[in-house]
Amino acid sequence: MSRTVGIAVTGATKRAMSTSGKTINAGELFVSSDLSKRYAQFRPKLPVEHVNTIVELLGRKPGVWVDVGCGPGTSTQQIVGHADTIVGVDISETQVEVARQTHQHPSLSFVQGTCDKLPAEDCSVDVITAVQAAHYFDLPAFFKEVERVLKPGGIVGLACINLASCKDSTTMNTARSCIWDLLKEYGLAEKIQLVVDNYENVALPYQDRKEHMVEISTLWSLDDYLNSCLTFSPVNTMIKSKGLSVEEGREHLVELLKKRGMTEKDMNSVYTWSHECPLITASKSF
Ligand SMILES: C[S@@+](CC[C@H](N)C(=O)[O-])C[C@H]1O[C@@H](n2cnc3c(N)ncnc32)[C@H](O)[C@@H]1O
Repeated sequence: MSRTVGIAVTGATKRAMSTSGKTINAGELFVSSDLSKRYAQFRPKLPVEHVNTIVELLGRKPGVWVDVGCGPGTSTQQIVGHADTIVGVDISETQVEVARQTHQHPSLSFVQGTCDKLPAEDCSVDVITAVQAAHYFDLPAFFKEVERVLKPGGIVGLACINLASCKDSTTMNTARSCIWDLLKEYGLAEKIQLVVDNYENVALPYQDRKEHMVEISTLWSLDDYLNSCLTFSPVNTMIKSKGLSVEEGREHLVELLKKRGMTEKDMNSVYTWSHECPLITASKSF
């Protein structure tokens, strides 16, 4: 697996640094526009290295690129400039609306739709991606649709971004295990496991499977870290099930982290966090 490193610094971190200071329907997980906006702001983005890899594998600039499970357009925006026509598709009307408001470009459009019924003609699409989304899909139904709409030689690419680990605080890294526990308790364990395993156990519909890895390195204050945790659907499920507001949910996370060993120093520091971001690809044969 090839491995590269990218660096991301969020707005909140920049401010912090300058002042030094069990049954879940995937389509219902992302229906709040507040969550969509938080997601757009605080989730790490699809690394552009993966976009370049897909274009290299295709061997030419893609004409049509469909990004399925586009959410608020975070991944779709990263493709701008790399394909002539880019279509983001999401099951959630709210996500699609936030995507339309957030990202505007002549090559870009967002459509409400599902992974098993893509808004495309037979054999008309050069690239299909799903970023942080395929683990929610009915994969056999999705792959049937991929086979229908991809052109011969077209690429399907599935990427995810794994939970951050703290590079330079052992206590903070240990404390974060409570976030894993929440994801397992309030999420769909088998889907989360696919992400934990970096999609190694996700089968692709074509023979020439390739695996690519980019490590995203992020400078985050505690505030940034909590903002990213508050974009996880299981964390939001936990907040709802306890009848908490988002701010109360944030406080709850702080208490959990403290119980697991987060120190005062951790709370007031900016640390380097690392996310593994695997991409698996395969191409439809000619
Ligand atoms: C975690 S978000 C990923 C958003 C974006 N791709 C990114 O990289 O930030 C997963 C998205 O998949 C969408 N989704 C889940 N099941 C879907 C389905 N069957 N068809 C289309 N979209 C789906 C959800 O609504 C959600 O917006």
